Amino acid sequence: MTSVLMHGLADGAAGVAHPNGTVRRLPDIVIIGVRKGGTRALIEMLSLHGDVAAAENEVHFFDWESHFQKGLPWYLSQMPYALPGQLTVEKTPAYFTSSKVPRRLQQVNPGAKLLLILRDPTERVLSDYTQVYHNRLLKHKQHQPIEEVLVLKDGGVNLGYKALNRSLYYVHMQNWLRHFPLDSIHVVDGDALIRDPFPEVKRVERFLRLEPQINAANFYFNRTKGFYCLRDHGRERCLHDSKGRAHPRVAPDILQKLYRFFHEPNRKFFELVGRTFDWN
Ligand code: A3P
Repeated sequence: MTSVLMHGLADGAAGVAHPNGTVRRLPDIVIIGVRKGGTRALIEMLSLHGDVAAAENEVHFFDWESHFQKGLPWYLSQMPYALPGQLTVEKTPAYFTSSKVPRRLQQVNPGAKLLLILRDPTERVLSDYTQVYHNRLLKHKQHQPIEEVLVLKDGGVNLGYKALNRSLYYVHMQNWLRHFPLDSIHVVDGDALIRDPFPEVKRVERFLRLEPQINAANFYFNRTKGFYCLRDHGRERCLHDSKGRAHPRVAPDILQKLYRFFHEPNRKFFELVGRTFDWN
């Protein structure tokens, strides 16, 4: 790995300048996850701020070997051109649950401010399932009914189900805290962001020490979509249809099983971050 980083450093990790005075820099802010936590909503809302420049796509630099091997010049090439004084942000939701990412990110960008958006772990599992279900549908692939994926034949929760593991927040958080101090990680309440985005976004603005710029008028509730949408310089837009999909109906006893299952892992997470969430 060192050679990958050295290669990058030698090739100008400090930034790539554009003739118009903008620069591609390592991100000041990384949205590390969680998958289906509301990461797209968060980056879009943060981009309402004039001092924020966001990478367009999910970068997957630290978690995909094929990208990581390309070194820092490639990483920089994925960053937006930013004006002096602007903060650059990238989001890759898979970073949070990839065990090798915290160490790699710390080596490359120890001063990064990290945003982690989480939602109720059970809801997140259903959202994760729904995403995979839609992807498989598009590829004309078969899918398993949700009950079969969640619960084993003996009635126990299926610990082998990846989506379940991704919702064990404390496991992944422990790994991040080995490499980053808690005060460099701001946890965004993804359920609150759905219900009423403005206060959550203000908290993010404060954490990033951005001048207060985003205001309540930037958000309006769209009844058709059933979610808040954005108003930016008079232009209104909602997130893509793939954000805010209906989840499958799950039998109440299975849902209860999941809520019970997550109770203890949630408590451990609350202890780690010194804060509670309205999860169960
Ligand atoms: P669902 O589609 O399961 O409802 P991510 O961008 O990390 O993939 O997260 C997707 C989730 O963002 C959606 O999950 C949705 O609940 C949530 N979300 C939060 N705010 C939203 C908004 N304003 N519009 C649409 N989806 C939003």
